[in-house]
Amino acid sequence: MSKVVRVAVTGAAGRVSSSLIVRLASGEVFGPETKVVLQLLELPAALKNLEGAMYELQDCGFSTLKDVVITDDANVAFKDCNYALLVGAAPRGPGEQRKDLIRKNGPIFVGQGQAIAKNAASDVRVLVVGNPCNTNCLIAYKNGRDVPADRWHAMTRLDHNRAVSALASKAGVTNDAITCVTIWGNHSNTQFPDFTNAKIGGKPATSVITDRAWLETTFVPNTQDRGKFIIDTTKVSSSFSAANGAIDHIKTLVRGTAAGDWTSAAIVSKGEYGIPPGLVFGYPCTAAGDNNWKVVEGLQFDAFGQEKFKKTLDELLQEQEVVKDLLPS
Ligand code: NAD
Ligand code: LMR
Repeated sequence: MSKVVRVAVTGAAGRVSSSLIVRLASGEVFGPETKVVLQLLELPAALKNLEGAMYELQDCGFSTLKDVVITDDANVAFKDCNYALLVGAAPRGPGEQRKDLIRKNGPIFVGQGQAIAKNAASDVRVLVVGNPCNTNCLIAYKNGRDVPADRWHAMTRLDHNRAVSALASKAGVTNDAITCVTIWGNHSNTQFPDFTNAKIGGKPATSVITDRAWLETTFVPNTQDRGKFIIDTTKVSSSFSAANGAIDHIKTLVRGTAAGDWTSAAIVSKGEYGIPPGLVFGYPCTAAGDNNWKVVEGLQFDAFGQEKFKKTLDELLQEQEVVKDLLPS
């Protein structure tokens, strides 16, 4: 008998989710032997568009798609779900920072955190994509506390993929030659895309790209601001690359990281690297294919890295302060 996986996606008629749901249904993530039930949540005003998306999913004829549920009720969407992908939230526009969305989007994650704790399967994994995703994840986790802390994740995989691509392009190699990249901290323009511990073709990235000024003053800010660059170019925020980051995050949880490599995910800190326990912080993570992240310990920072690390931590602490009324003690 084939296995069934229930995947809830919020904001399912939005731009990111439109790319996400078709790939979740296709068998790409959970494999050809696993049947997928998509449980799609939207605001009432977007339900008609979501109905159209459901018809298109049916018309794909995927052998792996068992059922599609569309609803505006979070209790229905999260019922027995094994994965919950929280995308539904307003995106920023030109001139805005992600943290400008915090008071608008934050309250969404109070009710959704509670609804996940009440309805989800006991093995649920939650990935928050809606911005500002670290602090929204913190809100959902604190309001859904019956679900263990290690189940709540926010997405830094898009930033990770951006950093890999930028290093590969500079070094004149393909993306698969880049390993051991980390996005530390916040999915924001204070994140630290760590080239100091990264490798290119198995060698320290800094021994292959010897132009340290480029690494510090081009690679780091361009990776930090890539989301803004996409918005400035297209007037809307990233869509299929964001969906791809979410697919990569879940796929890596399911299948694991390659030997000698790691990936980036924001998770609830247990105090690793001196981060206050409970904060949702971007770390280097490995996975063994059992749906769990393990933080890579013992990495060192030079003075440049230490300064960047502190800046992103300070920003996350400030964001936490701004939403403290949404965090039950
Ligand atoms: P979008 O406006 O196209 O779609 C958002 C959808 O969410 C809309 O259809 C809206 O009706 C729905 N929605 C809003 N509130 C909801 C709620 N309470 N419950 C259910 N659905 C709700 O936006 P988008 O471009 O798809 O982006 C979605 C979010 O993802 C934004 O916050 C964006 O900033 C974020 N994002 C994050 C990353 C990342 O790397 N973490 C990357 C890209 C986008
Ligand atoms: C991104 O990184 O592309 C997204 O978080 C959207 C944004 O606001 O930049």
